[in-house]
Amino acid sequence: MADRRAVLVSRFGDSTSLVLAEQSIRPPRGNEVVVRVTHASVGTTDVLARRGGYVFQPLPGFTPGYDFVGVLETESAVSVALGLRTGARVAGVLPRMGSHVTRLVLSPTFLVAVPDGLDSAAAATAPLDAVTAGLALRMTGDAPRVLVQGASGAVGSIAVQLATQEGRTVVGTASSRTRAFAEELGIPVVDYRGADWMGQARRAAGGPFDAAIDHTGAPQVRQTLAPDGILVHTAFAGRAGHERADSLRGSAEAAGRRRGHPRERVCSVPYFLLTKRPRYRALLSGLLAAIDDGRLRVAAPEVYAFDDLWEADRAAERVEPGRKVVLAV
Ligand SMILES: NC(=O)c1ccc[n+]([C@@H]2O[C@H](COP(=O)([O-])OP(=O)(O)OC[C@H]3O[C@@H](n4cnc5c(N)ncnc54)[C@H](OP(=O)(O)O)[C@@H]3O)[C@@H](O)[C@H]2O)c1
Repeated sequence: MADRRAVLVSRFGDSTSLVLAEQSIRPPRGNEVVVRVTHASVGTTDVLARRGGYVFQPLPGFTPGYDFVGVLETESAVSVALGLRTGARVAGVLPRMGSHVTRLVLSPTFLVAVPDGLDSAAAATAPLDAVTAGLALRMTGDAPRVLVQGASGAVGSIAVQLATQEGRTVVGTASSRTRAFAEELGIPVVDYRGADWMGQARRAAGGPFDAAIDHTGAPQVRQTLAPDGILVHTAFAGRAGHERADSLRGSAEAAGRRRGHPRERVCSVPYFLLTKRPRYRALLSGLLAAIDDGRLRVAAPEVYAFDDLWEADRAAERVEPGRKVVLAV
C-alpha cells in the first residue's frame, strides 16, 4: 500500500522533469520516527539539482528538498528525551535531499521543535538557509569586518543580520536588481558587476575584510581580504552546464588553500549535520527562536499546494528577494 507521495526528478532538465509518485515508507528502525510533512521549501539548491548541476548531485529518480516542517506521527525514546512527542510540530534539515514528500522516516536527532507562535509556512522558509548562514558566520570566527556576497539572497540576508547583531562591520554585494532589498538590512551594498567592486567594498568597510562569506568561488574575493583573513565558501557558482565539475574543483582548490593567505574553508551543511548533530540542533533551535521573537527576519513564504509542484518549481527560479517558495504538503 502506498503511504506517501513524493516528488521525483525523473531526468535532469526543467520543471517538466518532475513527477509525483506514490511510495511505501519503510517502518522506522530503532529510535527513528515518522514525520507528516506539512511544509517544505523549494530553493536554489533544488533548482540546481533538478538541472543536474549540484555538487552532491543524486542520480535521476531522486526527491529534492533539504528542509521541512511537519508533525510527529510517532515518538521514540530518543525523541521523547529530546522533548519531541507525537503531535509535536517539528522542523529539520536532511543530510541528503528528500524532503519533498508527504511523510519522512528519520532519526529524531535531525528535528527541533517549532516555537508555538511561529507559523509553519514561515518556519519552513528558514531551516537550510538559516543553518547555512549561521554555520558560515561561525566559521569566520570573531572576524570584526565581514563581507557577505549575495547579501540580498536567502542565505546572505540571514548572514548579514546575524553578523550585524553580533556588532560586526558588514558590507554586502548584490546586483542593481536586488540591491535595495539588501540595503534595507542596514549595511552598505556594492554591485558585484562593477569592475572594482572589491575596492569599493573595502572602502565601504574602512579597510580590508577579516572574513568573507562567498557562494561564487570568484577569485577576486580574495582581494577584499586581509592576508590573515578567512574566506568561507558556501558554494562555487561554476560555468553553465559545468556547475558540478566546477564546484568539485573549487572545493578541492579551497581545501588546498586551507593554510593560505587568506585561509579558505568550505561550509557544508550536509557534513555539519552528519558530524555535529547536537550543535546543528542548538543552532537551528536558536535561529527559529530568533525568527519567532522578531530578532531575525526571514523570507516571506510564497505557498503552493503540493499538487502544484511544477508551478512552485518554476516560481523558485524567478523568486523575488525576500521571498521563498514553500510547498504546502
Ligand atoms: N553550503 C551549504 O551547505 C549550502 C546550503 C544552502 C545553500 N547553499 C548555496 O548557497 C548559495 C546561495 O543560496 P541562496 O539560496 O541564498 O541563493 P539566492 O537566494 O538565489 O541568492 C543568491 C544571491 O547571490 C547574488 N549573486 C548572484 N550572482 C552573484 C555574483 N556573481 N557575485 C555576488 N553575488 C551574486 C544574488 O544577487 P542578485 O539576485 O542581485 O544577482 C543573490 O543575492 C547557492 O549556491 C546555494 O546552492 C549552500
